[in-house]
Amino acid sequence: MSSYVTRKTPGDTVWFTHDRFGMFIHFGLYAMPARHEWVKHHECTPEDKYDLYFKYFNPDLFDAKEWARQAKAAGMKYAVLTTKHHEGFCLFDSQYTDYKITNTPFGRDLVKEYVEAFRAEGLRVGFYYSLIDWHHPDFTVDCLHPRRFDKNAKELNEGRDMKRYAEYMRNQVTELLTNYGKIDILWFDFSYAEMRGEGERSWQVGKGKEDWESEKLLATARSLQPNIIIDNRADIDQDLWTPEQFQPENWWRHPETGELVTWEACQTFSGSWGYYRDEMTWKSPEMLIRMLINTVATGGNLLMNVGPTARGEFDRRAQNALKVYGEWMHANSRSIYGCTMAEPEFTAPADCRFTQSEDGKRLYVHLYAYPFERLSLPGLLGKVEYAQFLHDGSEVLMEEGDNLVYKDGKMQNEKVLVLNLPAVKPDQIVPVIELFLK
Ligand code: GLC
Repeated sequence: MSSYVTRKTPGDTVWFTHDRFGMFIHFGLYAMPARHEWVKHHECTPEDKYDLYFKYFNPDLFDAKEWARQAKAAGMKYAVLTTKHHEGFCLFDSQYTDYKITNTPFGRDLVKEYVEAFRAEGLRVGFYYSLIDWHHPDFTVDCLHPRRFDKNAKELNEGRDMKRYAEYMRNQVTELLTNYGKIDILWFDFSYAEMRGEGERSWQVGKGKEDWESEKLLATARSLQPNIIIDNRADIDQDLWTPEQFQPENWWRHPETGELVTWEACQTFSGSWGYYRDEMTWKSPEMLIRMLINTVATGGNLLMNVGPTARGEFDRRAQNALKVYGEWMHANSRSIYGCTMAEPEFTAPADCRFTQSEDGKRLYVHLYAYPFERLSLPGLLGKVEYAQFLHDGSEVLMEEGDNLVYKDGKMQNEKVLVLNLPAVKPDQIVPVIELFLK
């Protein structure tokens, strides 16, 4: 068994740390401007201009089954969909707002279709819910709000009541966790109490747990779905730590207690979360695969994002990226599912990453740079019963070899396990060798 013990939290994380790989989906009105889901903030879009997106929103090619099919084919085991992003637009039929998808030309409850389709594919279902809301009339203008530079920004706040907004959130979370069956993940986003506006705008302070009334909000969620996994972004520790757009190099630890925590890196294909037509910074296939391996090799999950187009489809570039995962996972998923960071006694050689099965019996060597004919594995001599390439199950011959090392002031021979490799790299973005340990 893996010797790593993570901090105990209320949610059920057992399935989660087994499954390792999920799909994030950012969809909303911002798919139409197609230049970042924060477009309303970036451009301080006037309300009447933003209303046009609402007026014409009609993702006519949307097919939840197709989204689910592609997620599953990519090897993803769960998904998290933005039920509401910072713009405040709801993809579900909420009775607490008119600013919802059923009032657009599209007219359908997209969340409902998503839940049903993903469940039918055997995928777990999660909801992202934005704490920030740039449309709600009670959400005060703060340092991130699209109206922050308005001359009358201060006056705009007269009569706004965050208490009413906090209640609105509890009501909506209640709807989301009541009307759609079992929900596995709730992803709140995000708190920024330490931020404030500059100079004259220093009265524009950020928001945190006091504003969201996070304790009540979290209690509401837990009372409806006790085992649900909740992230930490409502400003109170829950189950999940969420490093965003960077790859931790070590297993995350709790800052106060030092315990290992359950963590999930969220990443994008090209930089933004919502569909961004002109973005040219798409990650290479090598990078996509390595990010997944690096994550599991340090004990985490990867939540990889897709931003569907305003027609409701994954665009060609996103589909291709998903296919990269699909092909690699088809052959190599055994080194991902049910795997975690290798035991501390095993150190991966240069250009390699290790993962190890939870039961400790299998160790996976991921070859980032393909070595010339032999790979020596210090510390593994006598510990491996059988070795094979994972993608085709072909035997990899092993022998005892010598490694010249400089130790105690002289060159010495160290006995190591040596794997004999074919001269030509197998046709895998990252080839994996599966070691069955004694
Ligand atoms: C952020 C952003 C955002 C995105 C998200 C995903 O903090 O505000 O647009 O939804 O995190 O992690």
